[in-house]
Amino acid sequence: MSADNLPNQYSKDSCDISEPLPERPAAYRSMMAGRAEVLRRELRQIFPRPSAFVWELGCGHGHFLAAYAAAHPEQICIGIDIAGDRIARGLRKRDRARLANLHFLHAEARLFLEVLTPDTPIARTFILFPDPWPKSRHHKHRILQPDFLRQLAAHSAPAARLHFRTDFAPYFESAAATLAADPGWEPRDEPWPFEQETVFQQRAPTYQSVTAVLRSQALAGV
Ligand SMILES: C[S@@+](CC[C@H](N)C(=O)[O-])C[C@H]1O[C@@H](n2cnc3c(N)ncnc32)[C@H](O)[C@@H]1O
Repeated sequence: MSADNLPNQYSKDSCDISEPLPERPAAYRSMMAGRAEVLRRELRQIFPRPSAFVWELGCGHGHFLAAYAAAHPEQICIGIDIAGDRIARGLRKRDRARLANLHFLHAEARLFLEVLTPDTPIARTFILFPDPWPKSRHHKHRILQPDFLRQLAAHSAPAARLHFRTDFAPYFESAAATLAADPGWEPRDEPWPFEQETVFQQRAPTYQSVTAVLRSQALAGV
């Protein structure tokens, strides 16, 4: 599928960086430091004690994670998204369903990983229908890249799982190839752990999924 034939659902809002970054590096650094501090505070409230957790990167309105958290009340679940209005909707969903184990944070994925501490390792990561960035010159914006996989591995628990799903075939192919070549993650043929349609999944005629497990060497830093 070429960039021109991109499914409509991605044409409007999802291929933009929603918050333009300030041009001056000093202002940018100061903004990121401020955001990191807010995130640290929010995480301290979520984790009064050390615990592994499940997260969804780019959770949108939170349909998937709300259902997952309801089905797994013993697991701490955190949805993050750079779109504040989507996080607000997720929080309303959480409050209506009274899910004490579910949290939504307005955050960028890499910054979120940066502020995590070793006593809160990631047990499971869901990346569902991520922005496909179809044009070749924009591929660098795709989230599933070797440097992201390294950062994710560094914050994941032993045998952590990464679940990736997309309806954009070229992104699936590149993600599957990136995972297969990565020293930290091993693609696994295992059943998808939990089914709940996301907003983008409802609109997708077809989609593909891949699961990977964290290799033990990744933890040893080998
Ligand atoms: C195409 S939408 C999919 C939303 C949802 N997963 C679904 O399937 O309905 C991608 C979402 O990822 C969010 N997003 C994109 N890049 C992100 C990043 N670096 N960190 C956090 N969220 C991100 C966007 O704001 C958007 O809500």
